[in-house]
Amino acid sequence: MIITIDGPAAAGKGTLAAKLAEKFVLTYFDTGMVYRAVGLQMLLGKHSLEDKTAAEAFAKNLTFQKMMELSKNPAFRSLEGSKAASIVAAIPAVRVALLAMQQNFSKNPVFADGTPANGAIYDGRDTGTVVCPNADIKFFITASPEVRAMRRFKEYDAKGEISSYDEVLKQTIARDKNDFARESSQPAKDAIIIDTSELSIEQVFEKVCEIIDAKQKNA
Ligand code: DC
Repeated sequence: MIITIDGPAAAGKGTLAAKLAEKFVLTYFDTGMVYRAVGLQMLLGKHSLEDKTAAEAFAKNLTFQKMMELSKNPAFRSLEGSKAASIVAAIPAVRVALLAMQQNFSKNPVFADGTPANGAIYDGRDTGTVVCPNADIKFFITASPEVRAMRRFKEYDAKGEISSYDEVLKQTIARDKNDFARESSQPAKDAIIIDTSELSIEQVFEKVCEIIDAKQKNA
């Protein structure tokens, strides 16, 4: 079983995907990590984020192991890291270079320790449209920019990162503009769209589990 969860930043995709992965015994790929890994290498190497050649070279050389190593750097999920990821993700050659790595993940779904999984779950922006167009179930999870900015602000605040709500809202809107300029980020035609603005994580999880259970019964 392959499940994709796309949607804007801080809509709750990651939390939902992790819970579903556990319940349905699926191996999980947070595809934003590939762009964060390239963005972080650009920052660490002091490259201009406009340097498309450098970004493409980092993308071509990225391995799963390297990505996991980079993810331990605190800047990986910082405001600066998020901005860098969004900029490099807009470079078409970077997207092409990172596609095979993402697609290969579900060909033989196993966990990090090599044990087999029942399938794979992806989250990102284009996992239902480009990465796994033949996925069994596709979700598009969204929420208002204000709700998403508040969720992110609380995350940064808990980590002690200096930010203001207004700054995070401004960045959320800017990232949406950048991320959704691409046709591939629009919901897949066969995606189930869920707005989580008024829902708790548990409510979203229950709703999605019902949909998956129903789909499995009918299969
Ligand atoms: O999901 P995230 O915030 O970790 O993603 C980081 C950036 O990567 C985000 O600005 C959009 C981009 N991205 C993308 O273009 N395609 C994906 N499948 C996943 C993320």
